[in-house]
Amino acid sequence: MKTEYVRLDPQHPDPEVIRRAGDILKNGGLVAFPTETVYGLGGDALNVEASGRIYAAKGRPSNNPLIVHIADMEHLPTIVTEIPEKAFALANVWWPGPLTMVFNKRDIVPDTTSGGLSTVAVRMPNHPVALELIRAAGGYIAAPSANTSGRPSPTLAEHVREDLDGKIDMILDAGEVRIGLESTIVDFTDEVPMLLRPGYINMEKLEEVLGEVLVDPALSGGNADGNMRPKAPGMMYRHYAPKAELTIVEGDEAAVVEKILELAANARKAGKTVGILAADETAGAYSDYRVRDIGSRRTDKEIARGLFKALREFDRDGVDVILSESFETPRMGGAIMNRLLKAAGNRVISARGDGPFGPKNFDPKGPSPRAVYNEP
Ligand code: TXA
Ligand code: MG
Repeated sequence: MKTEYVRLDPQHPDPEVIRRAGDILKNGGLVAFPTETVYGLGGDALNVEASGRIYAAKGRPSNNPLIVHIADMEHLPTIVTEIPEKAFALANVWWPGPLTMVFNKRDIVPDTTSGGLSTVAVRMPNHPVALELIRAAGGYIAAPSANTSGRPSPTLAEHVREDLDGKIDMILDAGEVRIGLESTIVDFTDEVPMLLRPGYINMEKLEEVLGEVLVDPALSGGNADGNMRPKAPGMMYRHYAPKAELTIVEGDEAAVVEKILELAANARKAGKTVGILAADETAGAYSDYRVRDIGSRRTDKEIARGLFKALREFDRDGVDVILSESFETPRMGGAIMNRLLKAAGNRVISARGDGPFGPKNFDPKGPSPRAVYNEP
């Protein structure tokens, strides 16, 4: 299949292109498009065959459900059975935006879209291209992140092309995304709302609107074995993984720098190429190595936006080993570390000298959020 690649103005997309892309979706085809979080791989959410094609193009297990993207609030009751007051309140504040909410689904949503679950995840993205495309497609686009399953999510259209060229009908390129990490997912199918995936909207922001919010125990490993089944099936899989072996080093700043330099020297001695992922504040210390400075710890927005891109760039460089500082920043630290730990398969070394350790308890409000990578 030839993949058509079109550049668009992110604020004022050409209506003719949007109409054509909408037609492709209405006919069961696949179009990758920008959102404010990451690029999505869109198909008609109400078309059984379209979701089948999405799974095939991504190489994704078909029991991992897709998020349905809508552009207008009045489309929500068509696909879900019940919308709790609190969900309305959260939508009021955060939709359109980097928020996905899980509800009980109506039969109109095919089981292929919901991965066989009786629930459906819904999001209203905050991006003019996404919103206009959803409307042009008839109102409901199923869209996972537009990467090959297991690879870092795409924050540029070029990343989509890298993974999906020849496998989908069209890629809409509107430049780099704003946020760079996937949406926060909150489940509303039980009495008390539950966080299933951390994102730009952190626990503090959720609690401001919702009051009590539970955290899926699987985010912290849940039990001593760390093998509890997460409520968001996708959180179970190896994710975001670069080809190189990635290790996170955590601890006090000076100790981390020292430990990374030691590990890097050892790897180099063993004949391996080393890449280092560091914050602005400390990147200068590693100038002997291939270092990627992904932004300041003070403005963690840059770190969030640059993380997946940096992992892909290390792949392109062909490094054997990646050593990463840990980024437990105040606002998005929980989400950043959730993705980085998955990418590292939870390989963490403490620079304080107590060696590699297993999952610690995840305190979403605390300074050291942890998640666990469970082998599927
Ligand atoms: O920011 C985002 O959410 C991006 C953009 C494209 O909107 N999309 C995205 O989709 O990240 P995806 O498929 O890569 O991740 C969706 C996650 C998976 O972990 C999946 O298991 C979970 O949402 N999910 C989907 N439907 C669910 C449901 N009914 N219940 C629980 N989790 C669900
Ligand atoms: Mg994904």
